[in-house]
Amino acid sequence: MCSKQSIYRATVSAKVAAGRDIVLLTLVPEAGDSLPVAQAGAHIDVHLPDGGVRQYSLLSASPYQIAVKNVRDGRGGSRWLHDDVREGDVLTIGTPRNNFSLRPDSSDVLLLAGGIGVTALLFMYRQLTGQGRNVHLHYWIKSSADALLFDQLVGLEHVTLHECGGRVVSMRSLIAQCPAGTDVYCCGPTRMLEEFASITRDLPPEKVHVERFAPVVTADGVTDRPCHLKLARSGMEIEAEPGQTLLEALIAAGVDMDYSCEEGLCGACETRVLAGQPLHLDTVRSPAEHDRLHTIMPCVSRSRSDELTLDL
Ligand code: FES
Repeated sequence: MCSKQSIYRATVSAKVAAGRDIVLLTLVPEAGDSLPVAQAGAHIDVHLPDGGVRQYSLLSASPYQIAVKNVRDGRGGSRWLHDDVREGDVLTIGTPRNNFSLRPDSSDVLLLAGGIGVTALLFMYRQLTGQGRNVHLHYWIKSSADALLFDQLVGLEHVTLHECGGRVVSMRSLIAQCPAGTDVYCCGPTRMLEEFASITRDLPPEKVHVERFAPVVTADGVTDRPCHLKLARSGMEIEAEPGQTLLEALIAAGVDMDYSCEEGLCGACETRVLAGQPLHLDTVRSPAEHDRLHTIMPCVSRSRSDELTLDL
């Protein structure tokens, strides 16, 4: 996998246990270098020795810190970071991307976290409390041992730990009780995000913010329609065949694209749509956000119309 996104080399200056099967990695620039500024909600790509790329939310930006849960049956990224990476090793990482940023003008903020999804929300919590803003973080954990940084969180003002054996309880009532106009952010396991989506269906879309690290399951056959792509800037015309993603078709035709996850999760491939009707299958943005921004994630999304014109 490759990408034209800027990459950096960062030294692992510390690697410490931060919960059961969770390590906290602190990344600093190599001597004489610097790393880009990052805001709460951002994630970075970590490049693996086998050429793969994984996304990890930042827990802090100065220095960069990422919390990594070891997923034994995962795709190998977390296992490598847990088992092989040592203090002093140098990682290749990407520019921070932020598809989950805090709205600057929100008066009340509710942060809902499950599992390792708490990483980005803890960064937000620290930033918002530092600014004296009205925020509450709810964190659902299986047990104290399973929580990220439990000892630092327990007893903290405006933080509630729900030790619930893995079941997310009371999310509906918490959202119902918050003042009108509250911005609600959620990151956690897929089941939690599905419940969150169902609970917040009737809230104003601009108040509801979610970040996923697993792709949504889409209806069978939805990607099997051919699509004629017109590239407005280069003048190229490309056919995306059934079974081929738009991104694959673009790259096969030699288009220089930025991309990373290829699962509609990271936002790296976001491209402006100038004409046609996209069929959005990513989880980075809501369809309403795509409509407002006129964008598509070609790594997973397709077209409802026979043609799409892209700003490429
Ligand atoms: S490459 Fe990550 S959203 Fe497209």
